[in-house]
Amino acid sequence: MVGKKVIITGVPGVGKTTVVNEALKKLKQEGIEYQAINFGTFMFDVAKTENIVQDRDQMRTMDRTVQKRLQQHAAQAIAKISGNVLIDTHASVKTLKGYLPGLPEWVLREIMPDLIVLVETDDDQILIRRLSDETRSRDKEGSKVIGEHQQFNRAIAASYAMLTGCTIKIVTNADFLLDRAADDMAAVLR
Ligand code: AP5
Repeated sequence: MVGKKVIITGVPGVGKTTVVNEALKKLKQEGIEYQAINFGTFMFDVAKTENIVQDRDQMRTMDRTVQKRLQQHAAQAIAKISGNVLIDTHASVKTLKGYLPGLPEWVLREIMPDLIVLVETDDDQILIRRLSDETRSRDKEGSKVIGEHQQFNRAIAASYAMLTGCTIKIVTNADFLLDRAADDMAAVLR
């Protein structure tokens, strides 16, 4: 079955998983189904088996060559999934050596997305969400640095569109406006 391949991105803690889950609930009521998968989980399952890291937040600190190998492995596995697929991942990953493209050319060639969604909100709101989420080891950084990461993600998303011809949609997930974000997300997934 030919389906849509949609990539969802956003800096850690912006709420991409939350928005995706709400949007999928709305679409399900209309009989539209997507298989939601998390790119980081595909990478982490291999990293765990190889005993490289203990938790998913440590993956950003792995050697670049290891991160790239796990990216490629994840992309190849995900490419085999048919139907409508929604891939929760990162436009760029903040590593110890700078921004690593989340979707380098060899990953894009495997997945060939129809659409890339950038989930964004105010830098301060992301900072507060990270500080409130005790289940994860988020990077300790201020709102200015979070803003730089969001800007970088827009720039690199443009290059992904150039390589694949996919469209880019920006969805704002503001405090108290989750439902609006889910509506915006659902609209591009129909
Ligand atoms: P992953 O697990 O995807 O990391 P993440 O970005 O931290 O994802 P989360 O799911 O934790 O954050 P989120 O933005 O979805 O926010 P959430 O919905 O939880 O990836 C893990 C690792 O895998 C990466 O660090 C990287 O190392 C690796 N990786 C992944 N893809 C890769 C790639 N392509 N290449 C290389 N490496 C890759 O929400 C956060 C909080 O905000 C929650 O408490 C929520 O309740 C709250 N919230 C959400 N929306 C709202 C709202 N509207 N108002 C108020 N609060 C809200």
